[in-house]
Amino acid sequence: MPSEPSANPELLDKVINLAKRRGFVFQSAEIYGGFRSTYDYGPLGVNMLRNVKAAWWRDMVQMRQDVVGIDAAILGPPAVWAASGHLETFTDPLVDCRKCKERYREDKIDGVCPNCGSTEFTEARAFNLMFKTQAGPVEGEGATAYLRPETAQGMFTNFNNVLATIRKKPPFGIAQVGKSFRNEITPQNFVFRTREFEQMEMEYFVPPAEADEWYRYWIDQRYNWYLGLGIPEAQLRLHEHAKEDLSHYSRGTTDVEFLYPWGWDELEGIANRGDYDLTQHSNASGTKLEYFDQAANERYTPYVIEPAAGATRAMMAFLLAAYHEDEVEGETRTVLRLDWRLAPYQVAVLPLSKKPELEGVSREVLAALAPQYSCDYDVTQSIGRRYRRQDEVGTPWCVTVDFDSLEDRCVTVRDRDSTEQVRVPIDALLATLRERTGQS
Ligand code: GAP
Repeated sequence: MPSEPSANPELLDKVINLAKRRGFVFQSAEIYGGFRSTYDYGPLGVNMLRNVKAAWWRDMVQMRQDVVGIDAAILGPPAVWAASGHLETFTDPLVDCRKCKERYREDKIDGVCPNCGSTEFTEARAFNLMFKTQAGPVEGEGATAYLRPETAQGMFTNFNNVLATIRKKPPFGIAQVGKSFRNEITPQNFVFRTREFEQMEMEYFVPPAEADEWYRYWIDQRYNWYLGLGIPEAQLRLHEHAKEDLSHYSRGTTDVEFLYPWGWDELEGIANRGDYDLTQHSNASGTKLEYFDQAANERYTPYVIEPAAGATRAMMAFLLAAYHEDEVEGETRTVLRLDWRLAPYQVAVLPLSKKPELEGVSREVLAALAPQYSCDYDVTQSIGRRYRRQDEVGTPWCVTVDFDSLEDRCVTVRDRDSTEQVRVPIDALLATLRERTGQS
């Protein structure tokens, strides 16, 4: 029997180090000593994060005729969060160590203070995770607003607007990608749990009798999405929540879990939310959020199946899964084996030398590729060093322009994973890449 893959604590440090050194993720406000649990995405990180979100949008919205997108506001009035249940129940149990005064989430400590070893804690108190702010110049309860702790509610409050503007009937979905905010007590593990993060969520509205079937369908789809983008099967598993662990809205939740360096943990959750949200918002707002089925002449509240993923957390999982060290020509190299759709740069154009003769044709190659692929252009250092630099950030293909290119109008295409090199006519370069990416 194959052995269970194990956690690998060193990997986290290696990936954090690479992420900083090569411009994926920086500590926010670093020149001021950093701001705990907030991160900025650098030139390579922003490319990769956008690629993760684009891959999700393509598969969840663009490729489907039953899902549409929205982009809702981040600020919301208390009424939304009262109806959704977040004001009352979106809390973590908080305890203080009586000796050193450190504050913890009760469920995250093992009876002993990780800071000083004391076993004496205050009684647990409920701490609401939403960020509260004031909208407008007037202070006081009337001006209270909240930063959304999930993108989901925008899909419920816009249910009627979307139905009235597109011709869809259940089963159909509304999708959204955007920032969410939670005042996490114990943010940790790099971008795994942060106070400001991005979500990719879809609310799929179905006739109640079909809810179980669609719940299973979306668990399967979402698990396969990660596999299809290169996360190995050995590092992915499904975990169905026990009834007593379900969130206040859920009739069933299954997590897609990833094997992080600290062990198995959540990557995405798929929930059967029943008619909880539409009913709550109907009752609280006085606006009926229902679907009228003309054929059956009946009005009903659809059930909701929700695949809820984190974009920033997914990016981290893709980086961790892609990180490898192997041996090339007797030397250890670091390589990110990222799927080409996620790689910050898909192609690097590398003139063999800085000599001006090569610049014209190199720029010509770059101009041909840049409209289709995210490209880097690098003329510094030896070609071997430049290949290593591209391997380390996951660039799947390097295109080298040399002096022969001036005569034969061919370039060398080097593959990141196999390091194999082939000579290709410049005119056939796009077709070659299309073939390698499976686009043709
Ligand atoms: N609408 C349901 C919902 O928000 P959730 O399990 O709380 O469900 C969904 O969040 C996903 O959002 C998680 O699986 C995770 O990927 C991401 N996520 C949640 N909290 C996060 C945080 N503090 N930092 C980074 N990602 C987070």
